[in-house]
Amino acid sequence: MSVIEVRHPLVRHKLGLMRAAEISTKKFRELTAEVARLLAYEATADFPLETVRVECWSGPTDIEQIKGRKVTVVPILRAGIGMLDGVLDMVPNAKISVVGLARDHETLQPVHYFENFVGQLDERCALIIDPMLATAGSMIATVDLLKKRGCRDIRALVLVAAPEGVRALAAAHPDVRCWTAAIDSHLNEQGYIIPGLGDAGDKIFGTK
Ligand code: URA
Repeated sequence: MSVIEVRHPLVRHKLGLMRAAEISTKKFRELTAEVARLLAYEATADFPLETVRVECWSGPTDIEQIKGRKVTVVPILRAGIGMLDGVLDMVPNAKISVVGLARDHETLQPVHYFENFVGQLDERCALIIDPMLATAGSMIATVDLLKKRGCRDIRALVLVAAPEGVRALAAAHPDVRCWTAAIDSHLNEQGYIIPGLGDAGDKIFGTK
């Protein structure tokens, strides 16, 4: 697995704003969508193009369009929902698959409680979205589920990654690439990323 830390100034700036302790739910939600949009832009940069002839105002013209790419966006409930609209802005024809994994706060292990996958996963590129790659337990479990259904092109988009999560995902799934706006310092004893964003799900849903 390779992790790609997106160094674009807009991403750095927006993620910095998200770290403010007193940020409002509205602002956090807006910035989550904006950073997700930019991560999706980066993560789709190698989609193949084909040339198609169209009738342009000035006559027949060759244009480029994305070649037969089927995409499913896979938000991990609950926090992944916060990134969904931003990613769909970039890939509006994508189908949505949903995975429900909650973190057991004692063991920090993911508990699987829901899944609803679209069909033809063997032909699709899956963009898994979850704001925080902490231990990577939920991400690894989601990749396992997708691979079991035949999906071969799996990419992860996260706002912030911990080095521990990056290592764990790389060990479990070396073929999966992960785009992140930042690789932070470490995980604390409660499994939170430091400096991180705090509880991203609570901040997106306004439940803190
Ligand atoms: N989940 C979060 O929302 N924040 C973290 O720092 C780690 C996991």
